Amino acid sequence: MSDNKTIMDYETVMLDEENKAVVIIDQTKLPCTTEIISLTTAQEIWDAIYLLKVRGAPAIGVSAAFGIYVLADRIETDDYDTFLAEFRKYKEYLDSSRPTAVNLSWALKRMEKVVTDHADCGVAQIKELLKQESIEIKEEDIRVCRAIGEYGLELVKPGDGILTHCNAGQLAACKYGTATAPIYLGHEKGYHFRVFADETRPLLQGARLTAYELHSAGVDVTVICDNMSAMVMKNGWVNAVFVGCDRVAANGDAANKIGTSVVATVAKRYGVPFYVCAPTSTIDMVTPTGDDIHIEQRPAHEVTEMWYKERMAPEGVKVFNPAFDVTDNELITGIVTEFGVARAPYTESLKEIFRRKEEAK
Ligand code: MRU
Repeated sequence: MSDNKTIMDYETVMLDEENKAVVIIDQTKLPCTTEIISLTTAQEIWDAIYLLKVRGAPAIGVSAAFGIYVLADRIETDDYDTFLAEFRKYKEYLDSSRPTAVNLSWALKRMEKVVTDHADCGVAQIKELLKQESIEIKEEDIRVCRAIGEYGLELVKPGDGILTHCNAGQLAACKYGTATAPIYLGHEKGYHFRVFADETRPLLQGARLTAYELHSAGVDVTVICDNMSAMVMKNGWVNAVFVGCDRVAANGDAANKIGTSVVATVAKRYGVPFYVCAPTSTIDMVTPTGDDIHIEQRPAHEVTEMWYKERMAPEGVKVFNPAFDVTDNELITGIVTEFGVARAPYTESLKEIFRRKEEAK
């Protein structure tokens, strides 16, 4: 990285139109190394998502949209039915890379709709429309995150302490992030927030990514271990918690990085408002409750050795490594979307959010 360039100057996900590639920052190497990689094959795109080289619900959605465009563009046929069949094979393959973040299937379905809505247009025209849609998905993400930031900023005041878990920042989206959007917008206005970033075991997205991007942006950020949130809240240092999410069920239960529900429980105990920041692309109204959300299980080595110099648990020991947990809706003070803040009862307020979305079309 050159001297005056910070991680905030890099785009999380880009489409390289000339070389037909998805270009990302390899987030597994951050914060020590900033490596930009180009993904061109289905296997490379799948691996990048599965291995968390690109991660965070919105960034996964944008990568999948660019990815399916790049792959579709290479399908050599003028026959619509053959094209659609090949497109669907790629779509299902990419969709299998991570199960919990609904933005992945949301973006792929949206791209598929472009194909099925234009069956009479010819394959060349469909490919052009797919490119435009993928670019729009990214641009929309930036607008949506900014709107979440504006609504979120109304919930806090200058000088507040804010705690966040995992990384729902610019590195998890395209700009602003979701949970960090109110922090960045407040920072621009000189709000001087004091942010606590949970380190977020086992993959350390809080320490490696959230602390890195906030610090680079000049925000006052302190890394804490995951077992310290009760202490900082009991000390009165936290005025609000903002977290991102991977899938919100129709009743407001919200799946996010493992450990989020512990933070929500502690926040309730100490009377700290707990906000989930969720683009409507992350709200899944066809999943009734958190119990219906598929929680991704990840390999044991991420817990036992991945970030250590040497193994930190005995060989052969059993490991439980769910990537996400579900925060019960009664622990959530509000769900901050690009169409306003939904509050309990969520079965009603989330419908109202989607009504506003329809109205805005
Ligand atoms: O496993 P990850 O790093 O993809 O998990 C990311 C999170 O849990 C984020 O909080 C969530 O995707 C929201 S990102 C705006």
